[in-house]
Amino acid sequence: MKKQQFGAGIWHFATYVDRYATDGYGEPRSVLDAIELAGKVKDLSVVDINYPYFGGNFTNEEIKIALDKVNLNVIGITPEIYTKEFRKGAFTNPDSGVRKRAHELITEACEAVRFFNAAYVKLWPGQDGWDYPFQVDYSTVWKNSMDGVGRLASENPDLKFVIEYKPREPRIKMSYDSVARTLLGIEKIGLPNIGILLDFGHAIYGGECAADSAQLAIDYGRLFGMDVNDNYRSWDDDLIAGSLHPMEIFEFFYVLKKNNWEGVWQLDQFPFREDSVEMANQSIDFLKSIEKALNELDIKALQEAQSDHDALAAMKIAQKALYKFL
Ligand SMILES: [Fe+2]
Repeated sequence: MKKQQFGAGIWHFATYVDRYATDGYGEPRSVLDAIELAGKVKDLSVVDINYPYFGGNFTNEEIKIALDKVNLNVIGITPEIYTKEFRKGAFTNPDSGVRKRAHELITEACEAVRFFNAAYVKLWPGQDGWDYPFQVDYSTVWKNSMDGVGRLASENPDLKFVIEYKPREPRIKMSYDSVARTLLGIEKIGLPNIGILLDFGHAIYGGECAADSAQLAIDYGRLFGMDVNDNYRSWDDDLIAGSLHPMEIFEFFYVLKKNNWEGVWQLDQFPFREDSVEMANQSIDFLKSIEKALNELDIKALQEAQSDHDALAAMKIAQKALYKFL
């Protein structure tokens, strides 16, 4: 069996501001500082890096040297199409000049993906959407959402693009807000190199069953990546994986395993007040427990219970496997 790889968004090792602590929750760090910290995590193999690189003017070569030093590779590049310039949207901005600028920025990110031989360009269109009734023409917004992604994918057929959907924040209503809507858009675009990056937390606070969302994306051949964290289901809290919904995370990974989905298990967490290295270590320990529990799971008995939709029998089998290792 292939050794499971673990990854994290490099922002896990940054410091943050919010609308209250506008002076930040820690001293600012550059991407190089964050890479150095990520290198301290046991068993971390890959990182997803924001583009442009934060905290200075760094070249791809400089980033590569820092990564090599701590033995990390790049899984994805996330162009920052959600900053001030794009506050009215990237793909859906009413100003065609800003839409063009988003396209150029993502095209630059494509070069970084090629440079690092990464798996994908990650699109997180956090500002694409609307806030108020009557604010936008929905048909135009949705068409621009699809056209923007479609153009990139057709111009760069050698690369994969993943869309990380999210119900809300920063936009109150986001264009790519759910697994179903994102799949609908991807299928309509109709290109093979666009998929979904499924964030467990985004799925559950959007009211989805994350395991079912994963199955749906897999059934359409579009699950290109995933990450985990946890939340109270009303907001994207990005808490440590397994802190609140261990059974549902377990089921999510069961679905990946059942479908022989073999990607990296990634963390998308925000340690505002916690030590970022310790939090990553603890999350990976939890994910390793999930891995052991999956090996322990009596899959035959489980599938038998599922064939009769027997909730109690299925739950007992899952609990027996999971709680042994937690
Ligand atoms: Fe998130």
